Amino acid sequence: MSTTFQLDTSTSRANPTPAPMRRLTVPKIRARKKDGVTQEPVAMLTAYTARQAQLLDPHCDMLLVGDSLGQVIYGLPSTVPVTLEMMANHAAAVVRGSYHSVVVVDMPFGAYETSPEKAYESAAHLMKFSGAAAVKLEGGEVMAETVNFLVNRGIPVVGHVGLTPQAVNVLGGYMARGRSDAESAKIVNDAKALDEAGAFAIVVEGVVEPIAIEATKAVSCLTIGIGASAQCDGQVLVTEDMLGMFERVPRFVKRYEEIADTISATAQRYAKDVRDRTFPGEEQTYQPKS
Ligand code: KIV
Repeated sequence: MSTTFQLDTSTSRANPTPAPMRRLTVPKIRARKKDGVTQEPVAMLTAYTARQAQLLDPHCDMLLVGDSLGQVIYGLPSTVPVTLEMMANHAAAVVRGSYHSVVVVDMPFGAYETSPEKAYESAAHLMKFSGAAAVKLEGGEVMAETVNFLVNRGIPVVGHVGLTPQAVNVLGGYMARGRSDAESAKIVNDAKALDEAGAFAIVVEGVVEPIAIEATKAVSCLTIGIGASAQCDGQVLVTEDMLGMFERVPRFVKRYEEIADTISATAQRYAKDVRDRTFPGEEQTYQPKS
């Protein structure tokens, strides 16, 4: 699968052109789990920009415009300050940069919790503005009525249980969940409530493995693990985490690259060239036509 590019001569940027490739759909993704079994796990990564989406899209089934962009892009201390407009703008960029994956956009803190109607307005705005195919919201049983309201009105929903970062001020940190009997029972119960409400997938984050497996077996929809289990029906990671963009990442992140080292070393080489006056060289300068 490849994306073709068109050179925009005014900006010298390569923009992707719609390749003869059909975008996956929510029902197609949902149909991966049949009778409790998912033959082909769902590969999902976060994306926040058009160029990032272009690079990830051919390899993923779903792209998540996560509110983790608050920390990753904006340097905020948590996802709590992220706004609906931030999400809408980044989601639109990701939709413009992708042709294959289902794009899911996070509903930010404060945009959906108070009522199903408020959630509908926020979700409709995100989808109309960006073209994303689905929304994700955090919370279990307490959000089931809202999930059902959205799904019945044409909005596909991904739930999110276990460690729910928007609730950091209640949870007191980002520790793994499900270590006590009460917490384990709540996670499984939350997943079941979202499944019955019509969520097509549920992110299971930072949950001890046996409980992630139990939740996966307990629901008919897909579970997407992050810090959960390979037995989930799919996996998601924050792209910058798996690329090695940050020094410290949670233990559940597999670092596939050390991109921060590459960027830093490259900036050092550039700065040296500037100071040595070896950049720009002959190939990078314009000379009068002779
Ligand atoms: O915001 C986000 O990136 C997420 C994933 C970590 C699941 O919710």
